[in-house]
Parts: sequence; C-alpha cells; structure tokens
Amino acid sequence: MLILGLNLFHADSSAAIVQDGEIVFAIAEERLNRIKHYAGFPSLAVQACLDAAGAKITDVDHVAVGQDSDANLARKVQYALANPAKILNFIKLRQRKQQMRDLRILLAGALGVDSASLKFQEHHLEHHMAHIASAYYCSPWDRAAGFSYDGSGDFVSTMMARCEGNEIDVLDRVYLPHSLGSFYTMICEFIGYKKYGDEGKVMGLAPYGKDTYCHDIAEIVGLKNGNFHLNLDYFKPLGSNQGMQVLEDGTVKLAPHFSRQMEKLFGPPREPHAEITQRDMDLAYAMQHVFEKVFFHLLNQLHERVPVEELTMAGGCALNSVANGKLFDRTPFRRTYIQPAAGDEGLAIGAALHTYHSVLKHPRRRELTHSYLGTQYSAPQIEQALKSSGTRYRKMDREPLLDSVSEQIAAGNVTGWFQGRMEWGPRALGNRSIVAHPGRKDMKDILNARIKRREWFRPFAPSIIAERQSDYFEHDHPSPFMLHVDKIRREKRAELCAVNHVDDTGRLQTVSREENPLYYDLIRAFEKRTGIPVILNTSFNENEPIVCAPGEAIDCFKRTRMDALAIGPFLALKSEN
Ligand SMILES: [Fe+2]
Repeated sequence: MLILGLNLFHADSSAAIVQDGEIVFAIAEERLNRIKHYAGFPSLAVQACLDAAGAKITDVDHVAVGQDSDANLARKVQYALANPAKILNFIKLRQRKQQMRDLRILLAGALGVDSASLKFQEHHLEHHMAHIASAYYCSPWDRAAGFSYDGSGDFVSTMMARCEGNEIDVLDRVYLPHSLGSFYTMICEFIGYKKYGDEGKVMGLAPYGKDTYCHDIAEIVGLKNGNFHLNLDYFKPLGSNQGMQVLEDGTVKLAPHFSRQMEKLFGPPREPHAEITQRDMDLAYAMQHVFEKVFFHLLNQLHERVPVEELTMAGGCALNSVANGKLFDRTPFRRTYIQPAAGDEGLAIGAALHTYHSVLKHPRRRELTHSYLGTQYSAPQIEQALKSSGTRYRKMDREPLLDSVSEQIAAGNVTGWFQGRMEWGPRALGNRSIVAHPGRKDMKDILNARIKRREWFRPFAPSIIAERQSDYFEHDHPSPFMLHVDKIRREKRAELCAVNHVDDTGRLQTVSREENPLYYDLIRAFEKRTGIPVILNTSFNENEPIVCAPGEAIDCFKRTRMDALAIGPFLALKSEN
C-alpha cells in the first residue's frame, strides 16, 4: 500500500512516501527547486518520492495532507467576527481550502496524467496532529506524551496529546493569537532578524546577553492554569496566518509582528546589518529565558496528564535545541523523540503515518532511527558531474578515503563531505556536511571567512562518537538529530574550542556506527590522528538550501575557499583545481 504525504502551500512544502508503513523517501521541495523554505506546491518532491518508490501517481492508494482548513473552524469564525480587519484574511484562507479541494487536478497537472486515472483516497489532518504523529509514529514507544508547538497551524499554536497504540488523543490546544512561536518571532524581528527562519540564529545570540529584561519580557507572556496567553499590546494585529504571507514565487514573507509598545519600553528596533548592541543581546537572552519558562510549564502540565517518561515532540519550536537540552532537568520526562524534520516539512510524514496507523489501523512499525531519507547518487553519476565541471579528482577505496579526509581535517583544512542519502530535516548529519577540526581556535573564523559567512555569534556544532558522549558532555541523552544542546565538560572545553559556545555548550550530534557507518568511521579515523572523537559538522551550503545533487556540491566547492571535497568515492583538492 502506497501513501503519499504532503505539506503544500505552506512554508517548507514537502512530500514523503510510505510503503506498507515504511518511510521510503522524504524530501523538502526547497532542496530540489533551490528556493529556501519554498511554500508552493511540492511537484518536484512528489516526483522524487514516486521515482524512489518505483511507482506512478496512479499507483498511490492514499494522499494525506498535514493541513485541514475545516479544523477549528468555529474558533476561526469567532476570531474573524470579533476582529473585522481580519475578515479579508479569513476569506483568503478559505480560498486556499478551495485550492486543496483541487488536489487531484494539481497532482494530475504536475505529473502529466489524467485526473480521472487517480484512484487515491484523500485525507486531511490538522496541522499539529500531523506534527505529533510525525514524532510519535517514528518513536520506539507504544505510549508517550505528545507535544507540538510553533507559530501557527490550522489556527492553533500548541497541542498536547496522549499517544497510545494507534491513537493520538488530543488533550489541549492553544488557539491563536496566543503563540510561543509568534512571541519568539516578534522579538527576533525587533532585534533585526526579520526573515522567516531567522529564529534559530538568534538562539545563538541569547547567551551573550544578561538578565536585564527578563522581568519586562515576562510581561508579554502570561501563564495561567497550565496554559499561556500573549499580552497583545506588544503585537501588531496579525491575521489568522500569524503574519506569514506566501508570495507568488513561493517564498515566505513575514509581516512586522511588534507594536509601538515594544519601542516605548526598549527604544527603537534594530535595523538589519546595524551593530548588535548589549540591549539586543539582553533582549535575546530574555526571550530565550521566557520561552523556556513557558515551555517547561507546559511540559510539566502535560506530564501531570500523561504521567510517562517518554516525550514525543515536533513543531518549529521543537527545533529550539537549547530548551530541549534542559528539559531533562526541568521536567519529569526522561526520554525524548524529536522528529528530525520537526518543522513544517515534517507534516508530510506525520500525515502519511497517521493515515497508515490511526485511520487504517495498521500495526506500528519500527523506530525511525536516522534521517537519511533523501536523494542518493551512484558513483558513475557523481563521476559524471565531476567530469562535466572540469574538476580534477582521484577515485579512492573506503579506507584510503577516510585516511585522506581525516588527514585534511587534522591539518585544519575545510572539507566538503557528500555521501549516501541526503538528510531529512534542517540539519546536516554527516551526509551533506562540511567537516572541520573542532579543536582549533581559528576554525570558526576560517569557516565564516571562506564559506559560511554566518553571524559572528552563531556556534558550529560537534558530531561525537555516541559511546564517547559522556566523556565530553555533562549528560548522556542521545542526540542523533542534533536537537539537544548540552554543557561541554570543563576539562574538554579547550579540546573542543571551535564548537564550544560562549556558555560552554555544544549542539551535539551523537553518531552511532549502526546509523551511519561511514561518518562514524571518519570520526574514528580523525580520533586516531588527534585523540579527539569529535569533528565539527556544519551544513554543506553557502547561503542557499543544503546541497542536494553532486553538481551543487561541486559548485559550492569551486566557488568558495573549501580545501577539499570528498564526494562518494572521489576526492578533489583545491590545490589541484
Ligand atoms: Fe508547524
């Protein structure tokens, strides 16, 4: 049985294909059309899913969409009527519902078939249900608490659920305009980070700040009876899409979120590219502090209602790896499964797995223990791309390749590492990565000057051999998808200075041999040379979506000052090109 899951006409549009309960392939459209956070129809992603499954759209039995315009309709109507300025927005959202109605026509058009030949049954699942399903049905547990939070989805910002067997039982929802994601976005905009997806950057700025504004910022989010509400005086009125507009070209634009009240309290907002002042850092600090306080409050409430130790979580805010790293100390939860694509691309697998397990009542399958669900290329395909780009390279066996790459890293050279199947979700986890020495003081500056050009305050992340985690970090909770930040042990901070953030933490990826033997062995080879079972891992890209195809990796290698590129069994050196 084939189920196609979709996130469409929404940021990070994506597709996933599930065959007899197994996720065969999943990809965000941005990787294929190269438009970051693309929010249109994922036609290339659908085609890639079908190709991977060796199927045609006419073979698909079910299409599941992680969006349901009818969900929470009474709340939407009530909100629109109470806020006449938002009625137009409400009408637009209803028009989008019509677009969804034409799903058969859209799919048939995109794939060049007659819509009458499509046999699939169509399913629409509420946004946050799809988030929770994406985490729970990929987790190893038959019983867990389910939590989802983000800016907004189907008029809801937060959902809590009890997950058991094949059922996800919703316990609570937080409706718009109250949204922890919008709160975070508002402050990010105020301090000059106005683009969709900038929130992750500002998280790295927070530890540079001090506790100057925590009290003031706490006024913006009130806690009551296990719930929270925003003080709307600080927000410009937003539509029921929380100020997120999809433009004609499929890019996402954010409307300004903050009101004059913010300026009254904190002075003028920072313009992008202006100097970052202590005020901005202190606001980032307070934002993260208040966010965590509300997050832990909600999780503790959830635990009272679902008293288990296992937490399954997704939603854009679940990418807040700093908060995730602290939840073991601040809540009774002891184990987490956070979906690697916790953002909205993950809705595609959530909707598909929900259809398989909750709607069609098929038994649970095994845990999704890795994120390598994307494209892969054969050695001849890669070699062809190298040849046609005029790159000089040599072909190597596995061991000499690992030896050469570890030598490059140990020498302080920056290496592109393109291997196997592309990762699903926003993190590069050792298949579309740039790797470097974690223990050289100048490495962060080198990476930024030569390739990444990121803000000075953003840390780079470590990949560590899973069995060595507790030698280097204070906790040993697995972090296979790089979604937990943890303190680096005092005695190891100098050894990991290029990945040690200003607050002595690292957003680690624990790498096991079972999930990624080649990457694991690369770290081992580096350890043999240096004694350090850790390498610096950053995504393989330069201000663009992470590279997907070999040609994009080769282009990035050539146009930046990357020293080496290990792509499949081939090694190219800048000194020879
Ligand atoms: Fe979402």
